[in-house]
Amino acid sequence: MIQTLHEQIPAITGAVNVLSIDEFLLSLTNQFPGKVIFSTSFSFEDQVITHKIVSNHLPIKIFTLDTGRLFPETYSVWRATNEKYNMRIKAFYPDAISLENYVAEKGPNAFYESIENRKECCYIRKVAPLKRALQNNSVWITGLRAEHSADRHNMPQIEWDETNNIIKYHPLLHWTTEDVKQYINENDIPYNSLHDRGFVSIGCAPCTRAIRPGEDFRAGRWWWEDNTKKECGLHIHQQAS
Ligand code: ADX
Ligand code: SF4
Repeated sequence: MIQTLHEQIPAITGAVNVLSIDEFLLSLTNQFPGKVIFSTSFSFEDQVITHKIVSNHLPIKIFTLDTGRLFPETYSVWRATNEKYNMRIKAFYPDAISLENYVAEKGPNAFYESIENRKECCYIRKVAPLKRALQNNSVWITGLRAEHSADRHNMPQIEWDETNNIIKYHPLLHWTTEDVKQYINENDIPYNSLHDRGFVSIGCAPCTRAIRPGEDFRAGRWWWEDNTKKECGLHIHQQAS
């Protein structure tokens, strides 16, 4: 009997617990040939995953969501990554008409005015392009780490994404910042220079700031909003079952 993707989660979860990250990535590419995809925002953790994919010659597609509002430093590390690994990372862009209408109606920085405006901007610039990027794939790899948000502490490494109808895998979920930095240094991996200036979780330039020592990792994202669950809609956490 052919199992649906969702039904394969228990077996895959069993495997993730006994294999190393490199072994598990390889097993995914064998199980889902041509249908494993990784999203990079060029953060520390994403750079680790890109290095693992490229240095192990794994047939995993790599893409980024270029919101049009990224930091200049993010474009620099994107370019450095292309150069180092001799590749061209594919970018997905927002739908031009939706973005034109949104900016015409609300102005260029409407995200500061209300949560609704902010979520609409994230939807147009990230969530909708993500949907397109993930289409016809079976496994989506991300660089999510538990340290980044209280909401991510109890997350499983393998989960089902109902919205995008895809299995999600977070290989570095339990890595600490120190683990990530050490791996970056040991392997001479290019990284976003903003990390050296107090930026931890890096998103769009107008919506990300550096954090002070001891501050919550997520405090630098959408800092003007006082809600605790500050997510852009890329990652809607569901329990794998
Ligand atoms: S977000 O939901 O707040 O924006 P976060 O910045 O923590 O996400 O990043 C978590 C993971 O989401 C990254 O490791 C990456 O896999 C994915 N991601 C976030 N932003 C982007 C982006 N602009 N392009 C591609 N992937 C992204
Ligand atoms: Fe728009 Fe800010 Fe969301 Fe980027 S993070 S898509 S600029 S609201």
